[in-house]
Amino acid sequence: MNKEELILKAKGARNLSYSPYSHFAVGAAVLTKDGKVFLGANIENSSYPLCMCAERNALYNAYLNGYKKEDLLALALCAATDEPCSPCGACRQVISELFPSDAPIYMSNVKGDVKETNAVELLPFAFSPEDLK
Ligand code: THU
Repeated sequence: MNKEELILKAKGARNLSYSPYSHFAVGAAVLTKDGKVFLGANIENSSYPLCMCAERNALYNAYLNGYKKEDLLALALCAATDEPCSPCGACRQVISELFPSDAPIYMSNVKGDVKETNAVELLPFAFSPEDLK
């Protein structure tokens, strides 16, 4: 699967979003080294703080299927933003721990704009498991 196909998967995952409060559908897709794709979408709740972002759901989906950080190749996200959608702070923290630091992260929007980044760029000086030692 190439970059464009993964971004299309993230765009398609927006259809799985449950976002009756924000009406802001976000989709995400994680590509594994063995070619599998795990989707995520934002799932909201009437108790607002319980809303869960697309990126975290996609990463948790990969982990729940037995994949780990070293098995992951790329991550894409997509929303109807003017600029390519940027992960929130909470997702950046989770990405920094669960996703390889130098692997590509494709931020995109439904218009087809794409910006490539990685976990270190998104969250420099991240708190990490090393800090707990
Ligand atoms: N959201 C995501 O799923 N990912 C992001 O990167 C930004 C925000 C969700 C959370 C909430 O359901 C809605 O978008 C509005 O913030």
